[in-house]
Amino acid sequence: MASFKIAILISGRGSNMAALINAAKAEDYPVEVALVLSNREDAQGLEIARAANIPTQVIKHGDFDGREAFDAAMTEVLAAAGVRLICLAGFMRLLSPEFCQRWRDSLINIHPSLLPSFKGLNVHERMLEAGVRIGGCTVHYVRPEMDEGPILVQAAVPIASDDTPDTLAARILKQEHRIYPLAVRLIAEGRARPTGGMVTIDNFELPDSCLINPPL
Ligand code: GAR
Repeated sequence: MASFKIAILISGRGSNMAALINAAKAEDYPVEVALVLSNREDAQGLEIARAANIPTQVIKHGDFDGREAFDAAMTEVLAAAGVRLICLAGFMRLLSPEFCQRWRDSLINIHPSLLPSFKGLNVHERMLEAGVRIGGCTVHYVRPEMDEGPILVQAAVPIASDDTPDTLAARILKQEHRIYPLAVRLIAEGRARPTGGMVTIDNFELPDSCLINPPL
């Protein structure tokens, strides 16, 4: 049994959570998904996790008097589960500075843009409005400022002139499902470390590839 335990925090659909759960099924993937935690009992991802026999827990933010109390309840559950890494996967609550500090360098997030561009919400609409031809997604360590923190992995995708927010989101999501398991593996194997504002990654070869859109 893999000993590097992670928790995944969700609020909704849970497709990135599912990608991590699937990755962890492989013999050579060095991670055990020890807990899926949701702030909403109607999060669809909970069903997927239960079907995969992953322990789940719901902590409703509305039951608490303020963000700090909610975050403290989460910390208690996460610490009890013995997790070494917490993966935010569509977890739609801002986290308190105390929580970010308690789990500093053990807390990562996935965001559907090439950070530091397009932080925040409605990212796909805003990329189309801006007319950028390349979009993407980012896995990064979490810092108290929203969508900030040392970058682990990014993937770039082309944007079509007739894309809608939905078609673009689907193209990016496909890559999210590839880079989140990669980022978690790099951390679990001890190959990625935050150093200052950046992440050092050991032993990798720079790919000899490039995305040009429209193509040459
Ligand atoms: C994903 O696209 C993720 O990048 C985004 O929410 C979606 C969750 O989907 N997260 C953010 O925008 C965080 N700022 P999922 O529940 O199917 O994984």
